Amino acid sequence: MNNIKTVLITGANKGIGFEAARQLGALGFVVLLGARSEERGLAATATLKSEGIKAHFILLDVTRQDTINDAFEKIERELAHSMRSSTMWESRSIKGLLRASWSCPF
Ligand SMILES: NC(=O)c1ccc[n+]([C@@H]2O[C@H](COP(=O)([O-])OP(=O)(O)OC[C@H]3O[C@@H](n4cnc5c(N)ncnc54)[C@H](OP(=O)(O)O)[C@@H]3O)[C@@H](O)[C@H]2O)c1
Repeated sequence: MNNIKTVLITGANKGIGFEAARQLGALGFVVLLGARSEERGLAATATLKSEGIKAHFILLDVTRQDTINDAFEKIERELAHSMRSSTMWESRSIKGLLRASWSCPF
């Protein structure tokens, strides 16, 4: 089992979110860049990748349940297998946050 950690950051295409993604990525985290605009999110992801950071774009508007559900599915389908521990994903990490916290109305 490796020790690479994965972090999901919402609003990560600019500002504090982007800088947090950049700094965590530079520390070795795999960064899931959540953004509500595909264009802006992909551009930010490309910038971080050009800096050598392992970054993946996730379309995610935190006020839209459909994008939350899609983000959950995408992470589980495409990325969960590479996370530090599938047990962690199954129990209480990003999956838990998406299910528990974000299922509440804003
Ligand atoms: N900058 C500071 O010094 C500072 C200090 C204390 C607190 N804060 C707080 O920290 C937060 C971020 O600040 P910031 O300066 O980084 O702001 P920012 O540059 O305006 O960035 C905000 C980010 O949030 C995204 N966003 C907005 N609504 C969203 C939604 N519904 N779903 C997903 N993403 C959404 C934006 O995406 P789009 O590009 O699509 O709009 C953008 O990526 C704000 O709440 C701010 O009040 C900032």
